[in-house]
Amino acid sequence: MPRLNAGATLVTNIGELVTNDPAPDREGGPLGIVRDAAVLFEDGRITWVGPAASAAGRVGGEAAVSRPDAWDLDTRPASPGATRSADISVVDAGGRAVIPGFVDSHTHLVFGGDRAAEFAARMAGRRYEAGGIRSTVAATRAATHDELRARLAGFVAELHAQGTTTFEVKTGYGLSVADEERLARLAREVTEEVTFLGAHVVPAEYADASREPGTGADAYVDLVIGEMLAACAPHARWVDAFCERGAFTAEQSRRVLEAGRAAGLGVRVHGNQLGEGDGVRLAVELGAASVDHCTYLSDADVAALAASDTVATLLPGVEFSTRQPYPDARRLIDAGVTVALASDCNPGSSFTSSMPFCIAVAVRDMGMTPAEAVWASTAGGAAALRRADVGAIRSGAAADLVLLDAPSHVHLAYRPGVPLVAGVWKGGALVS
Ligand code: NIG
Ligand code: FE
Repeated sequence: MPRLNAGATLVTNIGELVTNDPAPDREGGPLGIVRDAAVLFEDGRITWVGPAASAAGRVGGEAAVSRPDAWDLDTRPASPGATRSADISVVDAGGRAVIPGFVDSHTHLVFGGDRAAEFAARMAGRRYEAGGIRSTVAATRAATHDELRARLAGFVAELHAQGTTTFEVKTGYGLSVADEERLARLAREVTEEVTFLGAHVVPAEYADASREPGTGADAYVDLVIGEMLAACAPHARWVDAFCERGAFTAEQSRRVLEAGRAAGLGVRVHGNQLGEGDGVRLAVELGAASVDHCTYLSDADVAALAASDTVATLLPGVEFSTRQPYPDARRLIDAGVTVALASDCNPGSSFTSSMPFCIAVAVRDMGMTPAEAVWASTAGGAAALRRADVGAIRSGAAADLVLLDAPSHVHLAYRPGVPLVAGVWKGGALVS
């Protein structure tokens, strides 16, 4: 075990540590579990992972260790679980489970208004349609910068409280150059994983293709790949397009994604949400990091994904909130596809920010084992964002950890709806 330096944190007496690290001394299965473990971190990075017994002699006696459930809420961020053994914080996990922070690789968190009435109508039998996005565009354009920023801050707190430590945020409810740019700027204030989604839907002022020059979907795509991309690319890491009936055709999506790539952005795609279509094929062809939704897939789509590096990101909150059939995670995993789970948190198709909820649904209704679902929500999300520094607990990774109020990761699916997140560190700092 390395030296314990002042300012370091040791989390010990962890009954089940999910590392997602396939090191040979770990239990088999995707999660790389270590029992009776400890984790040391310092300056935002994990510096050691090993047996709690190796840590015990290094941190002083019993009295030096405090349990998180005894933390003083007012002083927690300053001294998480603090012992005073040379200013090393020691946290006794009390035999509970610790997992990597969730990586939510797909959200739409900058928007105004909500669509509760549309949800209620759907639950009474109405179908979900992409056109509903336009009502959120109107509400978002009408909101002030401060309103959007405050709303976003609330969502970030909500994410942290539920164990999410890395999250992507898309634009896509502005759909004018100025509005998309302000959404990209706001998103960049809270995450480095910003996605430019100017091609979310054709906005009302272009959609009514009154056959006047300069209107219609193709004219809107011209705007997206020209002035809008130029304004947003400096704030973004990714470009995305909604390749679906009612949104953009494969050709329109391709123009947007290729232009984004030429501007230095990585590619992600919304596809195969409402029916079989061209999204998956296009994503694979362009070498996208991820294609998201994947609800309706042909055998050729599954085979293409399996032969590619493109992650299939499944979004169970969408099918829950739209009453569509759930995507078949089992079919994808059995074919060798890398699967991620994400919330898709947005006011239309999936207004949940909870990764534990997504895990529970994926296990109950999509054929995933609890271990596969936890992996998909952590390491899978990291793969979808092409991030090597998050989604796993190993030396050198970001100190993003979640202490569960449960003995095992299985409880995330076994106890649906129960708040099991007892403590969250992001970059070594206690954020919830
Ligand atoms: O990922 N599919 C496209 N976009 C969002 C829905 C947005 C909305 O309905 O407002 C999604 O499901
Ligand atoms: Fe989405």
